[in-house]
Amino acid sequence: MKIQRAIPSACAFVPTMGALHAGHQSLITIARQYCDDVAISVFINPLQFENSDDYEKYPKTPDLDEALAHKAGATILWRPEVSDLYPDSPKPISSGELGKLYEGASRPGHFDGVLTVVNRLFELVQPKYAIFGEKDFQQLFLITEMAAKLHPGISIIAAPTIREESGLAMSSRNVRLSNSGRSEAEVIARALRAANDKESIGKARQELQNQLNNSNFKVDYAEIIDSETFAVADENTVKPRAIVAGWIEGIRLIDNAVFTFSWKENLVRL
Ligand code: PAF
Repeated sequence: MKIQRAIPSACAFVPTMGALHAGHQSLITIARQYCDDVAISVFINPLQFENSDDYEKYPKTPDLDEALAHKAGATILWRPEVSDLYPDSPKPISSGELGKLYEGASRPGHFDGVLTVVNRLFELVQPKYAIFGEKDFQQLFLITEMAAKLHPGISIIAAPTIREESGLAMSSRNVRLSNSGRSEAEVIARALRAANDKESIGKARQELQNQLNNSNFKVDYAEIIDSETFAVADENTVKPRAIVAGWIEGIRLIDNAVFTFSWKENLVRL
């Protein structure tokens, strides 16, 4: 694996902010299914942090990043500096109305910052495929929309969320949790599973919110939406998805799960 500051060109591309874990490795593994050359970028993008403390405290593990990227099969590790990406001032990309909902409501400007950097990374690397995790579902949704408009030659590949044995979704932020915070965070995946076991969207929403509100997880939002539009889901929604965000020990955690509602498979609409 080559490590470089110069702009790479690669068939498959995995943009990251570093602090790699098994979730990122799974993105690289998926990228390798599409291409032999896979570039991974590590760039902590200041534009997407609305809170300077969060930006400064974002975990940095350069040696581990190198080892994990190499082991997962990346062929290039690219570590650009701000001046490599933006020799002039960045061309801002708007995330529109959807970028102001949910994650965007709590983190004003966050998705504009994400789209601005991803657009720039795409301009420079020009991959055929770019892989993003479903854990950041709203981000994935907005990037897919942006790429369809501005980079139609790039296929966005969605990669499933990787979870710890406890169900906790893997995230670079998890390392900032204490052991007890980590156990408390398990309520998120438990609540998502319990909601999925309910027999209607209404009951699922109630279960999700009850479980989370009765825990040490400080809920920001817990909603069931239509995966295709982000509208609030109702009983007729074909692909409902629960989305959750909040804080444990002041650390922001997010998760989501598409609902299978397996009992619905036995229903025939007349
Ligand atoms: O998901 C992330 O790590 C970041 O938001 C991304 C897509 C690399 C843009 O900085």
